Amino acid sequence: MEIRKLVPTDVERLTAFLREIPEDDRTFFKQDLSDPETIAAAVRETHGLWLVALERPGGSGEPRIIGYVRVLPGTGLSSHVAEIRLVVAPAHRRHGLGRALAHRALVDSVRELRLRKLFVEVAAEQEALIRMFRKLGFTAEAILRDHLRDRRGTMRDLLLLCHFVEENWSALAGLGIDREVS
Ligand SMILES: CC(C)(COP(=O)(O)OP(=O)(O)OC[C@H]1O[C@@H](n2cnc3c(N)ncnc32)[C@H](O)[C@@H]1OP(=O)(O)O)[C@@H](O)C(=O)NCCC(=O)NCCS
Repeated sequence: MEIRKLVPTDVERLTAFLREIPEDDRTFFKQDLSDPETIAAAVRETHGLWLVALERPGGSGEPRIIGYVRVLPGTGLSSHVAEIRLVVAPAHRRHGLGRALAHRALVDSVRELRLRKLFVEVAAEQEALIRMFRKLGFTAEAILRDHLRDRRGTMRDLLLLCHFVEENWSALAGLGIDREVS
């Protein structure tokens, strides 16, 4: 498995990956990534960071995208803040890929983007995922009640988890991230 930056020639691989993602999980895309023009425009976007995880089927086939993480900085008054969006293909979940992508996004953001704060939105009942982000220095900053509604009409709360880069530096040192960054 390889994690690297998304490049414009990944557009077909990305389209194939996006097709595998169940409807409810598309909430976290926050844009219509079933539209080829939106995908093509998103791939050309140079703002922020977009990392993909690839694997070669059978070890030698054509590489396929199996997960991605995007770091999307705001603009103007929020240019120091970025959102993290993380998606892993259903067949590859629960093997540590989400954690590896989130970790890399954090390290690369601290190294390459002049950010002071990162945030991620997760469904409030995703306790293990929330624990994973907490271990990376994220803390709960807000809960938005009934902010998500699934296809059955069930309302779910959304939790906003935030990571303050400066405050977390000593915690990052504990994780060895400072050595990777320097
Ligand atoms: C969230 C997501 C990226 C996790 O990817 P993943 O590769 O399965 O994550 P990992 O295997 O690294 O697991 C990370 C932690 O979350 C836990 N976890 C992940 N998905 C879980 C689930 N559905 N139920 C319970 N625990 C879960 C794992 O057990 C692990 O915790 P642990 O190390 O304490 O065991 C993936 O489920 C996904 O793409 N979901 C849809 C999009 C989404 O919700 N994105 C998050 C907000 S942007």
